[in-house]
Order: sequence, then structure tokens, then C-alpha cells
Amino acid sequence: MDVLNRQILVTGGAGYIGSHTVLVLLETGYDVIVIDNLLNASVESLRRVELITGKTLTFIEGDIRDRALLDNIFATHDIYAVLHFAGLKAVGESVELPLSYYENNLAGTVTLCQAMQSAAIFRLVFSSSATVYGPEAPVPYHEQLPRGWPSSPYGMSKAMVERVLDDVCISDTRWSVALLRYFNPIGAHESGLIGEDPRGIPNNLLPFIAQVAVGRRERLAIFGSDYPTRDGTCERDYLHVMDLAEGHVKALESLEDSGCHAYNLGTGQAVSVMEMVGTFEAVSGKTIPYDVAPRRDGDLAAFWADPALACEVLGWQAQRNLDDMIRDTWRWQAANPDGYTNG
Ligand code: NAD
Ligand code: WQD
Repeated sequence: MDVLNRQILVTGGAGYIGSHTVLVLLETGYDVIVIDNLLNASVESLRRVELITGKTLTFIEGDIRDRALLDNIFATHDIYAVLHFAGLKAVGESVELPLSYYENNLAGTVTLCQAMQSAAIFRLVFSSSATVYGPEAPVPYHEQLPRGWPSSPYGMSKAMVERVLDDVCISDTRWSVALLRYFNPIGAHESGLIGEDPRGIPNNLLPFIAQVAVGRRERLAIFGSDYPTRDGTCERDYLHVMDLAEGHVKALESLEDSGCHAYNLGTGQAVSVMEMVGTFEAVSGKTIPYDVAPRRDGDLAAFWADPALACEVLGWQAQRNLDDMIRDTWRWQAANPDGYTNG
């Protein structure tokens, strides 16, 4: 397919997954316009994407809830499709601030879709999450399962957006939407120049381990060792962020049929917290001191993807293994101990 001169609007493109996806889009030959309010990102990520690819992109600092700004972007660019990453993602924070999460994630997406509809742009790839299956779903998760009732406002906002997009596609067959249900993205671009740069104390496992390894935090707390799993710690389906980024390009290329289509993006393999610590130590050569702490509210014992549909329909399959994920995380963290702040 000739993608030259196709312009893609990437919301939240300065963030962790967005910046890696922008890199793959540029390398594939797309033109990229990023809109990001920099609430949880630094524009340095995009400067480095330009450095790695040798290509330029257009950056607009702004908010997806700003309808006038979106109208202006759609009026002044010939946008082929929108990849929609922008949103808030901290599960615990969403319990404290549910209205911020529904406003940003749900209302923000509604505003984006209204602007797209007015501009007759109907191709959308949405950053969804395995959390939409809810706490009762049997594992592995597959797309034929109904959406569940996620326990956090964050998870519920993703399930609600999925439902909104289903309804939008039913109302007008010009819409073509891919709902990408990510499992647990980790890792970084192999250059070590871009990666995950959480603000404050990391909520997620691998960024926390990486900060312990680099000396920014003293010890890891392992949340629970009495789960009904292989070694008593929780199991998750971790996938490399570059595999995830490539999945977005495959999904973008699939937006020819109308309708709303959900795909799991995961490896199909579950890894426990203890296995993650052991592999990190082996790959990095660093010791990770840890304590076993009480379970974290809302954590599920184990879940992983059935990734067969993405393989069959999108031709996508994760290529990188756990050692690759950890090696690339460590390269990024060791070279950028304070993230982008010293960039
Ligand atoms: P991130 O926080 O690094 O990226 C989100 C970006 O959106 C940030 O750059 C932020 O500044 C921007 N943003 C937030 N609200 C905005 C708004 N109203 N207008 C414009 N920009 C806004 O997060 P990420 O890990 O890259 O996640 C990207 C998407 O993927 C999110 O929607 C997230 O919910 C979803 N997701 C992430 C994970 C994960 O584990 N990282 C898993 C499943 C789904
Ligand atoms: C993984 C495992 C923790 C930190 C979350 C969201 C999910 C998705 C990805 C967006 C769990 C344990 C963690 C620590 C630990 N995001 N852990 N000590 O909870 O699977 O998923 O991020 O959609 O919606 O819920 O990922 O990385 O937070 O935790 O022991 O300091 O590591 O208990 O078992 P999780 P995580």
C-alpha cells in the first residue's frame, strides 16, 4: 500500500505508547500530526523520535476536549485517520478522581468523534485495554467474550468508550474503528532514546523495577505472594511496546471495512511478578531488593490474551520476547535515569 503523504492525527502522541507508534508510522512513510496537552509527557520524546527516524512531524500542543482546535486541525490538514491514545491511565488515581477520568477519556473521545464526523473523517484506532473484559472473565481473554464491568473508573471509561464507538459505527456505516485491547506494554525502542517516563512514583511493575535497578528507589514491594498462581505472585501478559506500535500500523491498514472491530494485542504468555524480577536481574546484572507486601486492591490473580484474532485478521503477532523487553527497558533506564528531564 502506498502510504506516502497520508496524514495521520495521533492524539496523545508524545506519551509512552504514542511516541513509539509515531516512530513506526514515520518509518513506514506516513505523515504525522501529534496533538498532546503534555499533561503526562514531554515534547522531548518527539524530538528524539525525529532524531531516530531523520523525519519531521507536526506537533500541536492542545487538548482533545478543545472542539475549536480539533475543527481547525481537520480543516487545515487532509487527515486520513486518527490514532487515539490521549487520556488518563492511572487506575488508583481514577478511583480518587472519577470525574476527571470520565471527562477526559469518555467526554474527550466523544468530542473527538464529533469533530471527526463534522470533517467526514471516519477512520479511528482506539487505545483500549484488557481491563474491559472485567474481573469475572475466564482466561485467556478472547474477543468473543462480552465486555465486563471493570472495577475502576479508568477501566469503566475504556469499556464505555468502546460501547460509544460500537454505537457510532452502527449509526453510520462510513465509520471504521479498531479497538485495540492492550495487555501489559513494557520495553522501549532499541535505541534507548525513548521509553516510559512515569511522573512520580511508578504505578506499574516494570518502571518500578527499572527505577530500583538504577538507584532511584530502594526496594520493590511485591503486592501479594498468596495468589493461586504458579509461584503465588500475579501473572500478566507483558508485550514489547514496539510490537504494540507495529500493531497500530497493522490496524490502521485494516481500516477498509466499516464497523467496529476489537483485537487483543498481547503475546498469549503469562509471566509472574517473581519471574519478572528474576529475568530483570539476569538480563541487567542488577540485584532487585524486594519485600512481599499485602495484595493491591483490585488486582486479578492472572490474565493473558488469546492473540489469535489479531494474527488472523491483522497479520500481527508479537515478535519480541521477555528478554528483549527487559533488555530494552534497561537500556533506556540506564541511559536516562531521570527520564526526559535532562534531555
Ligand atoms: P501516556 O500517559 O504516556 O500517554 C497519554 C498521552 O495523552 C500523554 O502524552 C498525555 O499528555 C496525553 N493526554 C492526556 N489527556 C489529554 C487530552 N485531554 N488531550 C491531549 N492529550 C492528552 O500513556 P500511555 O501508556 O502511552 O497510554 C496511551 C493510551 O493507551 C491511553 O489511552 C491508555 O489508557 C491506553 N493504555 C495504556 C496501557 C499501559 O499499560 N500503558 C494499557 C492499556 C491501555
Ligand atoms: C502488574 C503486576 C501488581 C507494581 C495496569 C492496569 C491495566 C493496564 C496496565 C491500562 C500486578 C504487581 C506492580 C509494584 C507489584 N493499563 N506490582 N509491585 O495492574 O496488570 O495493569 O496497567 O489500561 O488497566 O490495571 O499492571 O504493572 O500495575 O502490575 O507487585 O510496585 O505487578 O500487583 O500483579 P496491571 P501493573
